[in-house]
Amino acid sequence: MSVLITGSLAFDTITNFPGRFAQQILPEQVHILNVSFLVPTLRREFGGCAGNIAYTLYKLGGTPLVMAALGSSDAADYLQRFESWGLDTSLVLRAQDAYTAQAIIITDLDNNQITAFHPGAMQQAHEMVLPAGRRDIELAIIAPDGRDAMLSHAEQFADAGIPFIFDPGQQLPMFDGAELGRFVDRARWIAVNDYEGRMLCERMGTTLEALSRRPGIDGVVVTLGAEGCDLWQRGERLHVPGVPAGEIVDPTGCGDAFRGALLYGLAKGWTLERCARLGNRVGALKISHRGGQNHPVPSPLADEA
Ligand SMILES: Nc1ncnc2c1ncn2[C@@H]1O[C@H](COP(=O)(O)OP(=O)(O)OP(=O)(O)O)[C@@H](O)[C@H]1O
Ligand SMILES: [Mg+2]
Repeated sequence: MSVLITGSLAFDTITNFPGRFAQQILPEQVHILNVSFLVPTLRREFGGCAGNIAYTLYKLGGTPLVMAALGSSDAADYLQRFESWGLDTSLVLRAQDAYTAQAIIITDLDNNQITAFHPGAMQQAHEMVLPAGRRDIELAIIAPDGRDAMLSHAEQFADAGIPFIFDPGQQLPMFDGAELGRFVDRARWIAVNDYEGRMLCERMGTTLEALSRRPGIDGVVVTLGAEGCDLWQRGERLHVPGVPAGEIVDPTGCGDAFRGALLYGLAKGWTLERCARLGNRVGALKISHRGGQNHPVPSPLADEA
C-alpha cells in the first residue's frame, strides 16, 4: 500500500558570499541598486516539501507515491532520484515550458540571506488529478503546494475516501478562514508548527482544543522545534518531548522529516503518540545535516520508536 504525498518539488541552490551585504549595499544608493556577489561555494539540493517528506518515508521503509509537479525543462534529475528509490513516478506532472520550482539563496558572513524563489511548475500542480480506481493508496498528505492544487487535491481525496493530513505550512496565509475550514472538514489529521497553529486558529476563529474535537479529526499535531510536539486528540493535549540533537547544522526541513515519520507510523496503524516519538527522533537527526534530504535514517529506528 502507498502513501500519497502532494506538495512542492523544488531545487534549492545555496551559495555563500564571504563578505557582508551591508558593505556592498550602500543605503544612499538603494534607488539604483545593481550589485553582484561573488559566491565561491555553491550547493544544489533536492528540496520541496513533497520531496523531503517522501525521502524520510522512503528511508524508513515506507512506500511514498508522489503527486506533484516538476518542470519539463529540468525534471530529469528528480525523476532519476525517485526511480533509484523504486518509486512509482506516474503521478509526477512534467509541466510543459516550465522549470521546477527553485530557490536561489545567497548567505553572507552575518547569516543575512537574499533569496529568489521561482515557483515554476508548482503553479501547475493542480493539473495532476488523482486517477480513478487506485486502490493502493491508504493515506495521504497535502503539504504546501500551489494554491489551486491544495484546494483541488483536498476535494479529490475526500471524494475518494482517502484519509489525509492537512499540512498548510508556509502556504497557510494564502487561505482565508472559510477555505481553511473546508480543508479541516475534509482532513483526518492536521499538522502545523507552533506559529502556523496560532495563525490557523486565528483565521478560523477557533482553538486547537476545539479543532481536535471536530468530528472526523483524529488528531492535531503541533511541532515545537527542540521541544518536540503537542498532540491534541478529542480535546486533550499530550506533550511528546523532543529528542536532544547532536550538532545543530540546518533546521530547514525538520518539519518535513517529522511528517515523513508521522506518515510511516500512521500507515502502520500506530497510535499518534508513537508516530510523534518517531517524528521527534527523525527531526533531531535531520537538524544535524544540511538540506532536507541528506540525513541518514537508520532503519531500526522505525522499529524502536
Ligand atoms: N533543535 C531541535 N532539536 C531537536 N529536534 C528538533 C529541533 N528542531 C526541530 N526538531 C524536530 O523537528 C520537528 C519539527 O520542527 P519545527 O517545529 O521547527 O518545524 P517547522 O517550524 O515546521 O520547521 P521547517 O518548516 O523549517 O521544516 C520538531 O517537532 C522536532 O521533533
Ligand atoms: Mg514547517
